[in-house]
Amino acid sequence: MRAHEAGALHGDIGHRGPAWLRPPADVNALVPQLWPRQVERGAGGALTVAGLDVRELAAGYGTPAYVLDEDDLRSRAREFRDAFPDVDVYYAGKAFLCRAVVRMIAEEGLHLDVCSGGELATALSAGMPAERIGFHGNNKSVAELTRALDAGVGRIILDSFTEIDRLTALARERGVRPGVLIRVTVGVEAHTHEFIATAHEDQKFGFSLAGGAAAAAAFRVIDEGVLDLRGLHSHIGSQIFDTSGFEVSARRVLALQAQIRDARGVELPELDLGGGFGIAYTTQDDPSTPAELAKRLRKIVDSECAAENLAVPHLSIEPGRAIVGPAVFTLYTVGTVKDVDGLRTYVSVDGGMSDNIRTALYDASYSATLADRASTAEPLLARVVGKHCESGDIVVKDEFLPADVRPGDLVAVPGTGAYCRSMASNYNHVPRPPVVAVRDGRARLIVRRETEEDLLALDVG
Ligand SMILES: Cc1ncc(COP(=O)(O)O)c(C=O)c1O
Repeated sequence: MRAHEAGALHGDIGHRGPAWLRPPADVNALVPQLWPRQVERGAGGALTVAGLDVRELAAGYGTPAYVLDEDDLRSRAREFRDAFPDVDVYYAGKAFLCRAVVRMIAEEGLHLDVCSGGELATALSAGMPAERIGFHGNNKSVAELTRALDAGVGRIILDSFTEIDRLTALARERGVRPGVLIRVTVGVEAHTHEFIATAHEDQKFGFSLAGGAAAAAAFRVIDEGVLDLRGLHSHIGSQIFDTSGFEVSARRVLALQAQIRDARGVELPELDLGGGFGIAYTTQDDPSTPAELAKRLRKIVDSECAAENLAVPHLSIEPGRAIVGPAVFTLYTVGTVKDVDGLRTYVSVDGGMSDNIRTALYDASYSATLADRASTAEPLLARVVGKHCESGDIVVKDEFLPADVRPGDLVAVPGTGAYCRSMASNYNHVPRPPVVAVRDGRARLIVRRETEEDLLALDVG
């Protein structure tokens, strides 16, 4: 262990990176599962996406910028669609939503999950058929619920007794009978970060199964007879690789389904298993394909239904990250390179925690590569950091970049499609980056860059 004035812990915090991270044989090589499918290192050494050189993108749109490989997103949506042919696949819009993506998702035959008035407005304004929208959220306002009813949203996922009463009153007033699901907290500890695990008992989402709230919620909705209870819903968390959590969750939720049948004589026709399917952020992640997931989930549901003597319900799933996450990389320009006391090299880029909060928030891992050229220099263990006033403003904790990385270089960080632009902030009054979609060698702006004028326009004091 290295001695350090600030204490022993500071001496060895990762200055060599995690044990699995080894200097690459070729620092220019791309690890295919981390990148959008049409990203390559072109003959000149710079990255290309769908045939377009990232230097051209940087020149045309500036940096930082989120670059979306449109065919990659579409092909992942289609793979879910094809692997789950008799299942409603809801794209979880919270991962990333804009009108162009709504249209892509709709064209590829998916449904859409929204969880706020703003996401609903985006979906409707892009022409998503309302009956293909599911509306989530633990604190939907009366205004949001009213809008959902008026639009004819297909499913509203109930999350509290207050909401049941609210929606019941609104539906009664309007003489409508919306389709609803009950979000059940099944008590599964998903093997993921605490803040993205959502089915353990002590958290804000859903009705607890163990405490009896989920059954009471179902009975209330059935007994009132105003809302059309279509089924139960369970989402156990995000970035999950191990399907055993889904197995426990399906078992528990189907046991509740059987309890409801026995108590009220109603066999609910639908079951939503949520999303959360993991993607590769580093070489350590080994995600399942949609086909593998479909096979395993189907087997789990079939055997649990057989055990409870239930007909297999119509299923839905809600993948977000697994569709958009791998389809995007963020392109940054290097501003400074700082070697700190021989401890670590900090490569500062022109964005940071305002365009990717996941590293600071979830201790998430990412990778990075030099994007505008290939290099013959040795690999150097670096930390890619942003320009914000926080020492936790880290984009990539540990990555080997070529030792000659220098100001003006472009650096690309893959896997930033999900929960990056959608969680972006204006911290330090940094305008949020644009999203540029690339297809067949052509780029198109789908979300423009925010400007200082946009920021000042909000500041009306
Ligand atoms: C209810 C629900 N469904 C689906 C998702 C999507 O998760 P992921 O993007 O990890 O697939 C989330 C994520 O928070 C969620 O809360």
